[in-house]
Amino acid sequence: MSMDEFLKYKEEIVRLRRDFHMHPELGFEEQRTSKIVEEYLKELGIKTKRMATTGVVGYLDNGENVTIALRADMDALPIQEENDVPYKSRYPGKMHACGHDAHTAMLLVAAKILSQRKLKGNVRFLFQPAEEGLNGAKRMIDDGALKGVDKIIGLHVWAELPSKVIAISPGPIMASVDHFKIIIRGKGGHGASPHQTNDPILCASSLITSLQSIVSRNISPLESAVVTVGKISGGTAFNIIPENVEMEGTVRTFSEEVRSLIERRLGEIVKHHSLALGCRGELIYKKLNSATVNDEELAQIGKEVASKITRVVEQKKTMGGEDFSEYARIIPGLFVYLGIRNEEKGIIYPHHNPRFNIDEDALPYGTAFEVLITEKLLNS
Ligand code: NI
Repeated sequence: MSMDEFLKYKEEIVRLRRDFHMHPELGFEEQRTSKIVEEYLKELGIKTKRMATTGVVGYLDNGENVTIALRADMDALPIQEENDVPYKSRYPGKMHACGHDAHTAMLLVAAKILSQRKLKGNVRFLFQPAEEGLNGAKRMIDDGALKGVDKIIGLHVWAELPSKVIAISPGPIMASVDHFKIIIRGKGGHGASPHQTNDPILCASSLITSLQSIVSRNISPLESAVVTVGKISGGTAFNIIPENVEMEGTVRTFSEEVRSLIERRLGEIVKHHSLALGCRGELIYKKLNSATVNDEELAQIGKEVASKITRVVEQKKTMGGEDFSEYARIIPGLFVYLGIRNEEKGIIYPHHNPRFNIDEDALPYGTAFEVLITEKLLNS
């Protein structure tokens, strides 16, 4: 199919996207969205199954041995929209500020086109809930979404890229995301008699500085890693030394080696640093999702396919995370980026911003990419 043929579907993609945009739903609450997805797929003759509470999986089964999965996420964010557009969010405090409305719309129309094509394989459509921090991908996998799937493709609209440009890179492209909590237990007392206490606030403040030595002194300068303390709380009054201080933060890396090194060093520093200051430190470390790593061969095929319809560039790595990584850990995966930035139209705001918007002229390119790479993988 030529790009001209895909452009004929623009109106339908935009109509679907605007409807989802007006009715944003948070993670695991995508009741309305999943119902629309389900009905749309059923109308195409594609069998569906519910997974991960509000997720929908579509089975375009051609009785073949090979299966390619295409994935879209459906959840919105707890943000009050500030765009003044006719399709502005109708739900106060909720907004599609990451473009998942567009992902769902593009994939639905891709399903429509693929259901009319002759394919030497099966296609699995994964409409996933709760990408934003709730790891809906893992729930989908637990419910069997990847069963029998050979390869998986995902796509994200990207505000840093000019409209219609597609960015693809092999290897790691988004970081792993971990959450940690540190509890420092000291001995409280009067602020005027610090010698009778073990001050957890002093301990916490010097601990934060020590933690920054992990990236600067334990990790090779050629590797990437982030240790951020984003939250700290302790104390009730200006003249009281409290009993406890709690801190929370995040760790981002691209490799499992670096990731476990940071976890280990965090534990050691928290323990020994606290002890040195007469406190007891506890680390609670939780791995949320792994780094997103693109399969080399799929990335190459992706570039070839995309360059037939638009300009293709390399994707810059980011320390942001994406739970598509959960799929790509199990089977070869490719996660690509579609530019939606348009300065002339004032579409310049970053993801998760109350003025985030999408140049809708780019959307048929996303659908086209999903259709063309599926055909390429199954029919050649
Ligand atoms: Ni997103």
